[in-house]
Amino acid sequence: MNLILLGPPGAGKGTQAQLLKDRHGLVQLSTGDMLRAAVAAGSELGRQVKSIMEAGALVPDDIIIRMIGERIAQPDCAAGFILDGFPRTTVQAEALDKLLAEKGMKLDRVIELEVDDAALVARISGRFSCTACGAGYHDSYKKPAKPGVCDVCGGTKFNRRDDDKAETVKARLEAYHRQTAPLLPYYKARGVLGTVDGMASIEKVAGAVEKLLNSGLSS
Ligand code: AP5
Repeated sequence: MNLILLGPPGAGKGTQAQLLKDRHGLVQLSTGDMLRAAVAAGSELGRQVKSIMEAGALVPDDIIIRMIGERIAQPDCAAGFILDGFPRTTVQAEALDKLLAEKGMKLDRVIELEVDDAALVARISGRFSCTACGAGYHDSYKKPAKPGVCDVCGGTKFNRRDDDKAETVKARLEAYHRQTAPLLPYYKARGVLGTVDGMASIEKVAGAVEKLLNSGLSS
């Protein structure tokens, strides 16, 4: 099963991708995580994208398409994957179609997580993650069971993303509405798009996503 999670920054793509990965044994392909790893490693790619990400703008299509193409070609993706944060432009969506066709793969579902802009800002500003294993948390909505200790690995250090500052979040939301939202009609026309109310609790959203995966979608 090959899926795309589509939605604005903070909609819950990473949160739901993690749950889907655990439930279905799919590989999570987060272009944001890949780019942040490149920045942290100080690689050539990281140096190219650092200032773009800090400004809340989109990284050029050619860089992203090359990066995701190399990743999808790896053997673990053959069993199915969840694209989290890709595609984000029509050029990327068309490149993905070409890539999948070349590999004889298909796209099973595109799941849109719909969330109000005001809620997104609250979610992003409360977000933090475990430095050791990357598990994601939120000051109000998803606290570690034991304060200051990661539920997954027991780590005690946490960090917040550089692009989660209020002014950068605004730029990221604008980029979503201008460059990524046009993908919704693109996938609706292909009959693979399903929309979930992303304002509900994490568990309820997960239930709605599961229901969508088991449903036939109209074309
Ligand atoms: P990326 O890392 O993809 O960030 P994003 O799309 O802005 O999405 P986020 O990771 O911020 O949010 P999310 O939807 O995953 O929400 P999460 O689950 O964490 O991209 C970062 C940057 O990289 C871009 O700005 C761009 O520069 C570059 N980039 C990446 N991909 C690119 C591409 N394809 N092309 C060009 N550039 C690219 O949830 C948020 C918080 O809310 C968490 O704390 C969570 O616990 C909480 N939460 C989740 N669900 C719920 C819920 N239902 N109720 C309450 N709280 C919830």
